[in-house]
Amino acid sequence: MIVAIDGPAGSGKSTTARRVAERLGWLYLDTGAMYRAVGLAFRDRGLPFTDSAAKSLVPDLDVHLSPGPDRVHVALDGDDVTDRVRTPDAAEAASRASALGPVRDAMVALQRRVASDQPEGVGVVVEGRDIGTVVFPDAAVKFFLVADLDARAQRRLADFSGDGSDRDAEAFQTVRGELAARDARDQDRAISPLRAADDAVTLDTTALTIDQQVDLVLDAVRRAGGRSG
Ligand code: DC
Repeated sequence: MIVAIDGPAGSGKSTTARRVAERLGWLYLDTGAMYRAVGLAFRDRGLPFTDSAAKSLVPDLDVHLSPGPDRVHVALDGDDVTDRVRTPDAAEAASRASALGPVRDAMVALQRRVASDQPEGVGVVVEGRDIGTVVFPDAAVKFFLVADLDARAQRRLADFSGDGSDRDAEAFQTVRGELAARDARDQDRAISPLRAADDAVTLDTTALTIDQQVDLVLDAVRRAGGRSG
């Protein structure tokens, strides 16, 4: 069974998807991490974000995700880029790289392969932007998470600073601006833009706790006939 969780950055989809997968003993697939690794490859090689650069780069790229105890480990051409993919620069590069057709074709193929490699009875909780619309249009469960821009910027800031100690107004405005720019790019691109699938359940997480979000998704999995931990 595929559980698709799409939405903009900071909508709570990563934490929700990871916890749902943990509860079910299923695979958690973070497709954003794949695009972040590809974005870093463009940066490392000094390539422009163009289709022709993507066409030459993508066939040789080796992007590998492996589940870790606390987070997904990401390898790019054999190098561990787990920390680097979480930087604002990697987010920006991912958003640019992910608008390119050759990059999307390769990543969508990789995502489908990872899912089909799962043993019988083990589902996959996949998070991204186009999972319910393009990658797995037949997913049994589809959620589209949204939240106010201010709430998403607060969450992102807490992610970066850990204890929330540098939540000053300037940092907040910077993060808020970066999120808004990334939203616009992800929504307005020609190929596989960020949008809810017609049959997705839209969940506004602005005032929800992670536990509430996880329970709502687990309920839907149970109703769709999957196990629920
Ligand atoms: O979810 P994230 O913030 O790690 O994603 C980083 C970027 O990757 C995001 O700005 C858009 C892109 N992305 C995408 O286009 N399609 C996906 N399925 C996942 C991410």
